[in-house]
Amino acid sequence: MCGIVGYIGMRDSQDILLSGLKKLEYRGYDSAGVAVYTENGLEIRKAEGRLAVLESQLQQKPLTGSIGIGHTRWATHGKPSDSNSHPHTDQTMKFSVVHNGIIENYLELKEELMLKGHTFVSETDTEVISHLIAEEYQGDIVMAVQKAIKRMRGAYAIAVLTEHEPDKLVAVRLASPLIIGIGEGENFIGSDIPAILEYTRNVYILNDGEMAVLTKDRVELMTIEGNFIAREMFHVDWDWVTAEKGGYDHFMLKEIHEQPKAYLDTMGSRIATDDSKIILNEISMSEQEIRGIQRIHVVACGTAYHAGLVGKQVIESLVRIPVEAEVGSEYRYRSPIITKDTLVIAVSQSGETADTLAALREAKRLGARVVAITNVVGSSVAREADDVIVTWAGPEIAVASTKAYTTQLIAFYLLGLYMAQVRGTLEGAQIREIIAALRRLPEQAQRILEQQGEIKAYAELVAEHDNMFFIGRSLDYAVAQEGSLKLKEISYIHSEAYPAGELKHGTLALIEEGIPVIALATQPELFEKTVSNIKEVKARGAFVLGIANADDEELVKSVDRLLTIPKTLPILTPALSVIPLQLLAYYASLARGNDVDKPRNLAKSVTVE
Ligand code: F6R
Repeated sequence: MCGIVGYIGMRDSQDILLSGLKKLEYRGYDSAGVAVYTENGLEIRKAEGRLAVLESQLQQKPLTGSIGIGHTRWATHGKPSDSNSHPHTDQTMKFSVVHNGIIENYLELKEELMLKGHTFVSETDTEVISHLIAEEYQGDIVMAVQKAIKRMRGAYAIAVLTEHEPDKLVAVRLASPLIIGIGEGENFIGSDIPAILEYTRNVYILNDGEMAVLTKDRVELMTIEGNFIAREMFHVDWDWVTAEKGGYDHFMLKEIHEQPKAYLDTMGSRIATDDSKIILNEISMSEQEIRGIQRIHVVACGTAYHAGLVGKQVIESLVRIPVEAEVGSEYRYRSPIITKDTLVIAVSQSGETADTLAALREAKRLGARVVAITNVVGSSVAREADDVIVTWAGPEIAVASTKAYTTQLIAFYLLGLYMAQVRGTLEGAQIREIIAALRRLPEQAQRILEQQGEIKAYAELVAEHDNMFFIGRSLDYAVAQEGSLKLKEISYIHSEAYPAGELKHGTLALIEEGIPVIALATQPELFEKTVSNIKEVKARGAFVLGIANADDEELVKSVDRLLTIPKTLPILTPALSVIPLQLLAYYASLARGNDVDKPRNLAKSVTVE
């Protein structure tokens, strides 16, 4: 997803902008650019491709100046290309803009501006913003921006630099994250904290409908209508070093290995020291309100949605409340049935996913109470929900989500147990039993990580195929869906996850000699049934990797390879069984020579619809 950086101060801005953009690479992008005010006026360098391309352009033709804006673009309007890259300018080249998000009425505005003689060089909606600001400019850039944004519909974060007032940067936020970093004699703009963390830890987080005017010595915050705002500075004590690779070849592998710690951190003080109950102080709902919940909707996208599929089964089983899980992009438009007794759980690692946020807003508009499960404190999802359960996974940099998913599962276990406590659907002894099993998960996850050599060998075999299947029943099917997504997104191998009992209704036709099938058989009550389904695919030539509990070793007779995972309670198994699937995807991607951390066409944080 796009990234924004801005700098105003005494230092050379080029290197600061580049280093900020590098910190935002993890969001995914396909082109990059910077605009700097130099002695020749506003100058721009931009290029399709990785930042290295821009960097080499800047080495050949450096931009010298202490005020600038930079951008990494993830194409939405118009293909990735030099001309579509940001910053964009008007035709006089006096107003430069970088922009995240979408301007919905840009075609309308473009036509209007063309009638007034404006000429455009890109296919983007962003270019329209710079022309609109130029059109509105009458000697005051802040007013021109305010007038321009009144005409714009959509969701965006923008940063503006004009040659007419080269002692100022203007930043605006409307439904796309933006922060302002405060330094000594210098100030910064970032679409995300890592962009500026190298230079300052003091930030203002802009809210929707707010803007900031930066000079090197001052930052003024105001609403887009121009009313000044007083805001407390936020001190970031998060350490960027924790987000570096720490000796692993890729962020994804590092993050897979961080899971045992992330489980511990997420459970943290939320389990009573005597292991008798869950303490969720972050839930402000009264016990009476919790007892009154009649139904639950889980809204999320991608991997977070898959965590929601597990969450559905967990809550239904522990609390006996009907739960529906739905992807945000569907939920937001289908007029969901929400009553005052409906609880909506919005799950999002980044807390900025546009579809999840829109689903959350729709649920709130219809009167639901919303609990967020997110990894980013202060994110939009966190700020707009009524209550927030933070997953303490730490920053997740690899595009493929791993520790965020498993900590989302932990959050569901904690929430499910807490609700069961309040509603009395579980006995004290049952709660203790589940808590004791939860406590064992970090060490059990660690043991699976130690088996990565075996998984690597299977992954290298899988990497030679273009199609494969994941099968499982019940919770195993939910995990299979996540395993399949993980494999697809980073190895580019096509795979399908199927409920094991459903294969015979059509999909079995695709099973042919040698096709890899990963069969999850961790649910004791369904073990025999799954074994029958494994036999169905084996009989048709599939090469099967079974994943089962340590005490189900007899499965080895029915599969080609067997990987066992430490035994836990069936309901907790997803927090373990997904780990081999994450490693499988990782090693298959590696074997195919792909860019593991930054798979093609994908972005870490999807802040457009
Ligand atoms: C897959 C992946 C995506 C995200 C999805 C939602 O590995 O990372 O499917 O899970 O884009 O993102 P968040 O959780 O940030 O809302």
